Amino acid sequence: MIELKPEKPEDWWEVEALFDLCFAPGREALSSYRLRDGVAPVPGLSQVARDENGILAGAIRFWPVRVGGQPVLLLGPVAVHPTHQGEGLGAVLIEGGVEAARRGGWARVMLVGDAPYYGRFGFERIEDVVMPPPTNPDRVLGQALVAGGWDGLSGPVIKWNEPAGD
Ligand SMILES: CC(C)(COP(=O)(O)OP(=O)(O)OC[C@H]1O[C@@H](n2cnc3c(N)ncnc32)[C@H](O)[C@@H]1OP(=O)(O)O)[C@@H](O)C(=O)NCCC(=O)NCCS
Repeated sequence: MIELKPEKPEDWWEVEALFDLCFAPGREALSSYRLRDGVAPVPGLSQVARDENGILAGAIRFWPVRVGGQPVLLLGPVAVHPTHQGEGLGAVLIEGGVEAARRGGWARVMLVGDAPYYGRFGFERIEDVVMPPPTNPDRVLGQALVAGGWDGLSGPVIKWNEPAGD
């Protein structure tokens, strides 16, 4: 049985180790990490999933960013331990996180990932929204959490605490 709980500060390094295991080496060189440097994750949205022995089976984190001066939720990293992949845990983490974000008043969510996987959760290419390089534009995906949540938004994705235009 897997139990989900909000991530606590003491979970931090265990979650980092899971991400190290699940992603290719050098994950922190990805452009999405530049948007996270020096910015705290969104309080209450990040989740850890543990098995009946307390072993970490999966985790998801969320950061705030901005596009066109508007707040945008950046989903990820999300990872499931190889011994639990294919059991639906990734879906639970992603769908639960997106729903919690909607309840929390976020109007839109984005991520950098594989469209074939994230498409099943309602994510699609967001044209004209530009991640810092190097990012394959085909992997820049988004979902509106309120009607028209992405309408009129375009341009670079910037850090939450970075003044627009810098
Ligand atoms: C991606 C990940 C979070 C999915 O978690 P999971 O618990 O295995 O996913 P689920 O059980 O909900 O879904 C499994 C399904 O997703 C598919 N899937 C997994 N990763 C996929 C990908 N990158 N592209 C397309 N399909 C993918 C599986 O083939 C499986 O398909 P099926 O339902 O048709 O059998 C997990 O595989 C993982 O941690 N991978 C390494 C880290 C990573 O890539 N994270 C995502 C960053 S973009």
